[in-house]
Amino acid sequence: MEIDVLTLFPEVVDVLNSYGVIGRAIEKEIFSLNSINIRDFSKEKHRKVDDELYGGGCGMLMTPQPLHDAISWAKKKDGYVIFLSPQGQVLTQEKLIELSKKKHLVLLCGHYEGIDERIIELDVDEEISIGDYVLSGGELPAMVLIDGIVRRLDGALGNDNSVLEDSLSNGLLKYPQYTRPRDFMGLQVPDVLLSGHHANIEKWQKQQSLEKTERKRPDLIKQLKNIK
Ligand SMILES: C[S@@+](CC[C@H](N)C(=O)[O-])C[C@H]1O[C@@H](n2cnc3c(N)ncnc32)[C@H](O)[C@@H]1O
Repeated sequence: MEIDVLTLFPEVVDVLNSYGVIGRAIEKEIFSLNSINIRDFSKEKHRKVDDELYGGGCGMLMTPQPLHDAISWAKKKDGYVIFLSPQGQVLTQEKLIELSKKKHLVLLCGHYEGIDERIIELDVDEEISIGDYVLSGGELPAMVLIDGIVRRLDGALGNDNSVLEDSLSNGLLKYPQYTRPRDFMGLQVPDVLLSGHHANIEKWQKQQSLEKTERKRPDLIKQLKNIK
């Protein structure tokens, strides 16, 4: 898979090239990441990429010309353009899995007051938000999206299939997990996990997963009931 990020701050996105699972996926050639500076496409004097708003209002807006040219340059035939925006559908695990099947994504990062609406009409396939709050730029949302997608790519986590059991993969939160030592400050690892009895362990994990979800995210249980 290939992801191109269109941004005014390529150096922020470039940090991912040497970051954990993503860095290793790039080394293994499972995934490639390019950051593209939108400013390089500006035909204005001093490579300007923003202007005042028609109709008034404070702040500046990203102008359409550099955005349109950058997208046209980056997008391949099977490319899918996503604008990171607080106005998009809120990102879910399901959406990450869907996007991890695409061959080429172009992620567009806004800044200032955002981007000229005509770019959304002309060039954007989908708007995605990472939550109902507003950040100052689309770079961190794009990086969140990339991390979530890359760990779903075949081979990105080596032979580790734990992504299939991650929280939210089956609509529930994952059961509590423990490692050494058995006793930490008087708190013990549950006996069943030390028993070696696989059927009992599995039963305990399922029960715990359900209880934890009911306690922390009752909304997820409601959603599951609605699907059934
Ligand atoms: C300050 S915001 C612009 C908000 C815009 N004026 C509005 O009210 O919808 C600047 C940029 O940050 C990014 N951004 C901010 N919050 C985001 C979120 N929750 N999810 C995804 N991108 C976000 C978008 O790319 C946006 O264009």
